[in-house]
Amino acid sequence: MDQLLRSPAITAGLTKVEARIRRLSGSSALPAINAGAGRIVSAGGKRLRPAMTLAASLALGKALDRRVITAAACVELIHAGSLVHDDLMDRATERRGARTLNAELGDGKALVIGDFMLARAGLAAIVNVSRPVAEVLAAVVVELAEGQYLETADLFNTARTRQNALRSITGKTAALFRAGCLVAAVCAHASAEDRARMAAYGEKFGLIFQVLDDLLDLTATSEQLGKPAGNDLRQGVYSLPLLMSGADLDGLLGRDMSDEQVAEALRRLRASRMTEETIAYCRGLAADALAALPVIHDHEMAGLLYGLPAAYIDQVERMTHLTPVS
Ligand code: IPE
Ligand code: IPE
Ligand code: MG
Ligand code: MG
Repeated sequence: MDQLLRSPAITAGLTKVEARIRRLSGSSALPAINAGAGRIVSAGGKRLRPAMTLAASLALGKALDRRVITAAACVELIHAGSLVHDDLMDRATERRGARTLNAELGDGKALVIGDFMLARAGLAAIVNVSRPVAEVLAAVVVELAEGQYLETADLFNTARTRQNALRSITGKTAALFRAGCLVAAVCAHASAEDRARMAAYGEKFGLIFQVLDDLLDLTATSEQLGKPAGNDLRQGVYSLPLLMSGADLDGLLGRDMSDEQVAEALRRLRASRMTEETIAYCRGLAADALAALPVIHDHEMAGLLYGLPAAYIDQVERMTHLTPVS
């Protein structure tokens, strides 16, 4: 991931994307909305999704013109807006090392600032990019809502199936990675086959990204995560790694788990086959992602896109090995 985010060609593009994000998030007639949206976009964030849009564009032989830059900014704005809503739903108090908008301003204001960000991205896409790109981005907001709904509907459901978990993360996370790669192919006027290939690559990588985020939630320490370990357990999100673990958690899961119950559940999960199973599952997704990629003539971008899935899986695997088991 660092290789992608540090590539000079990508960082040069990201500087322009950043300026566009700031402009869009500060474009409300209401200064208070600009301040709220500005807080979340300037608090940090890796900018992974727009970086992938830029890499996909360059990979398809398309230089980073204003349209692609704006499309990448819209992708990040949708991501940031969805995080505002996610934190509101989770009653989270910290994001990107700063206080969340719901904690700072209250739920009502956070809700509409999230709405503003999602809608502003859609408006910029239709006015400054193109109708086909706007269509992809509007569709992804639909999928995000559906994915988040499915997760909410399954909270504390100990009978949650892997299939349901997969369906939820496909909507809430993989869809935006898919869209980020697809808009690049649309801007590049790529063939229908290459569009589908780039989109599939983005989706597979997005699944890996969320599954590993879910794994880290159950394996990393609070220090590594920058948020309390086991958050998903407490909130009733029984994610794919948990469902694949085979661990016996009977009588432990539920609402209002005590600190001891959370610690015991984490201990059982860490002693189970969860990490191995999850990493193996992600390696399978990575193989699918690489198989989906179109022919790429640009050497550097080919290396970055081919290398990204395995590099990220290796990074997370190293992190889980650094975590004490008890
Ligand atoms: C967080 O995404 C939400 C998930 C899909 C797990 P990122 O980890 O990309 O968040 P930022 O943008 O770097 O803050
Ligand atoms: C990401 O999922 C949320 C969205 C895709 C909107 P998580 O709920 O796992 O995100 P974190 O763990 O709070 O960053
Ligand atoms: Mg959430
Ligand atoms: Mg998470």
